[in-house]
Amino acid sequence: MNGRKDLLDIESLSVEEINYLLETAGPFKNLIRQSVKKMPPLRGRHVLTLFYEPSTRTRSSFEIAAKRLSADVTNFTVSTSSVVKGESIIDTIDTLQAMQVDYIIVRHGAAGVPNLIAKHTRASVINAGDGHHAHPTQGLLDAFTIKEVLGPLTGRRIAIIGDIQHSRVARSTSMILRKLGAQVGVFGPGPLIPEDRHPDMQSFRTFDEVFDWQPEVIYLLRIQTERQKEQFFPSLHEYHRLYGVTDERLNYIRGKGIYIMHPGPVNRGVELVDGVMTYERTLINLQVENGIAARMAVLYWLQPETGSQRE
Ligand code: CP
Repeated sequence: MNGRKDLLDIESLSVEEINYLLETAGPFKNLIRQSVKKMPPLRGRHVLTLFYEPSTRTRSSFEIAAKRLSADVTNFTVSTSSVVKGESIIDTIDTLQAMQVDYIIVRHGAAGVPNLIAKHTRASVINAGDGHHAHPTQGLLDAFTIKEVLGPLTGRRIAIIGDIQHSRVARSTSMILRKLGAQVGVFGPGPLIPEDRHPDMQSFRTFDEVFDWQPEVIYLLRIQTERQKEQFFPSLHEYHRLYGVTDERLNYIRGKGIYIMHPGPVNRGVELVDGVMTYERTLINLQVENGIAARMAVLYWLQPETGSQRE
């Protein structure tokens, strides 16, 4: 399937393109589990990571994914760059483009920055998270992970719990799951559940209502304190009591065999208790592993307009 130049959100991907990416990620996952983990399709290409916000998983898994495909990788460290001297995003991109990079992987606190950069460069731009707008490769790795454990997504029930309003993960993951035919329900403090969510996304008022819906996956979100300008619930203790996976709820979840997912980083004692991390159906580490395969599929599929031809 012909690749696009950029990956900026899930919304603009067709179901065929999503299925192609998920199918392509499968063989890549097999490859990275072998002793020789490298293949040559991006040999001679240069990948640059440009993160204006912190990241553990996304930045390092893009770096590993690019190296597995034989690309060269440069990690641009914003905090020690001329950005701190006031250099604009566009001037930074012009400078980096002059260095002939082929892929720019960007994370920024403001929604729309990756789109702006994509219009300004011949390199392929991948959105690695922009404000509360989108995190498309998180959506892809989540869909890949659920498909791996449950099979086709049609009719599957996934409950997303937490700060839906400020979460780019909730936006991208709920969209890809619905595009693939899953049912998505949401639960969290009232002000953190967007009123303009898609009408086919069910909303719950209590954890018991979530359980009554019989979800196959409970997807927990981190409270995005860095994106909240006001306090939406009395305390973290109260949040845990009402919306967290407590020991009691974990017992119920274990009894029903419900899977638990979380994009990371987790806040232990807030959205989940320690026991969730060792629960046999917690998929958090599998999500991280699958992130490399999903990002390899994206890098393999995109077509930069930088001139150098892929071998
Ligand atoms: N899931 C996610 O985006 O994690 P990082 O912030 O560590 O990249």
